[in-house]
Amino acid sequence: MKARRIAELLRTQPIDEQVVIQGWVRTFRNNQFIAMSDGSTIKTLQVVVDRETTDPEILKRINTGAAIEAHGTLVPSQGRGQSVELVADDITIHGEADPEKYPLQPKRHSMEFLREIAHLRFRTNTFGAVFRVRHALAFAIHKFFNDEGFYYLHTPVITASDAEGAGEMFRVTTLDLHKVPMKEQGSIDFKQDFFERETNLTVSGQLEAELGALALGKVYTFGPTFRAENSNTSRHLAEFWMIEPEVAFCDLDDNMDLAEAMLKYVVSYVIRECNDDLAFLNDRFVKEEQSKPKQERSEWSLLEKLAFIVEHDFERLTYTRAIDILRNSKPNRKKKFNYVIEEWGADLQSEHERYLVEKHFKKPVILTDYPKDIKAFYMRMNDDDKTVRAMDILFPGIGEIVGGSQREERLDALKARMAEMDIPVKELYWYLDTRKFGTCPHAGYGLGFERLVQFVTGMSNIRDVIAFPRTPGNANF
Ligand code: 4AD
Ligand code: MG
Repeated sequence: MKARRIAELLRTQPIDEQVVIQGWVRTFRNNQFIAMSDGSTIKTLQVVVDRETTDPEILKRINTGAAIEAHGTLVPSQGRGQSVELVADDITIHGEADPEKYPLQPKRHSMEFLREIAHLRFRTNTFGAVFRVRHALAFAIHKFFNDEGFYYLHTPVITASDAEGAGEMFRVTTLDLHKVPMKEQGSIDFKQDFFERETNLTVSGQLEAELGALALGKVYTFGPTFRAENSNTSRHLAEFWMIEPEVAFCDLDDNMDLAEAMLKYVVSYVIRECNDDLAFLNDRFVKEEQSKPKQERSEWSLLEKLAFIVEHDFERLTYTRAIDILRNSKPNRKKKFNYVIEEWGADLQSEHERYLVEKHFKKPVILTDYPKDIKAFYMRMNDDDKTVRAMDILFPGIGEIVGGSQREERLDALKARMAEMDIPVKELYWYLDTRKFGTCPHAGYGLGFERLVQFVTGMSNIRDVIAFPRTPGNANF
């Protein structure tokens, strides 16, 4: 008989049917009641074992973490907390978990401890919920773009360019680091490397996505990106997944509309499809907030935050207006910010972004038209020659979740900006070709996928929304 999944059994409740389930023991009470999980839902199915007739050797091996298969009949449950249960007539143990050694006992473990056993943490309620929601978000993103007529473009992971021009790249090489081939002038001879040139892991698929958009009209990437920035924060990873749509004949306003619509779509999707997991994560979030000092607590529950995103328009304003607001804000005047905002041109830190979102506007904010000096080379210059058509979307508890811009489509303006910023014009000839041949206004943005998962699940550390986080000093598993 084919095994059925617990989520389906709880939904359809096929009373009196013979069923088989396969999964892992969460708890075993009174030598009789197994709470079983198979990953299909946060809920467990109660399996009732006949302790008179079951072999005591089998009973001894039913421990938390063991993989088992249960055959039996589904019946209405007498107990509280579940509508149905499985009365087992046969239990097979596939794999034991020695209770003396299994690190995941049924009690509350700290997130730090669970990170050390990231290979096992999928088996906890919290991580089960996080990874089911993560999947649902990824699926919703593909569905949104597909329904909007976008093509999913796979851009390379290994590149020879620095899309952001920030120099935060991981090198890719097969050279023997103990015997690096040198040229006569004393520099490294990359001609002898695998690609016969210097290469690195991509920081963004944007430049290649632009090439695609200028032929296919609307494309998006969804892949891993890598940043060797030494940021040990709860919002930075060295390896993270990014979604980067790029659209031809599109300006910054269209771009903001697209990003806002996408975020609302994916959040509504998980509200609809991930009820049980979100209810669990909401309880967890509320408890965690209660343990914080009052002024740091979120005013909203997780579910309220999610509903709020869907129901309200994002506030749109220029960087210049935001600087005015920040400069006159209480924490700035009282020098409570770690970085006090003195003048126009300052880069915004997450404390400033969060002030705008959480204290001033109390809703998601889109900042536009940043100073050119704090943004990348490819953004379209405004007529003031000081600001560029950039936009960042700021979310409560997260800060920047999306960064994007209208692109500089004018060849001369782009070349001038690249020269000013020391971006190698010659190496990026292929990028410039799009401006030489059939250029047009176009725009796009990047959504940090883990920051989105963080927002939706309410997890406070980004390391807890990706299976195996890569951060400075850590590439375990
Ligand atoms: O603002 P960023 O650097 O923009 C780009 O990479 C553009 N090429 C995007 C585009 O226009 N196509 O990154 C975009 C988003 C950020 O808003 C943030 O959500 C996320 O990527 N991000 C990170 N997420 C986790 N860890 C990091 N180190 C991140 N760096 C950026
Ligand atoms: Mg950014």
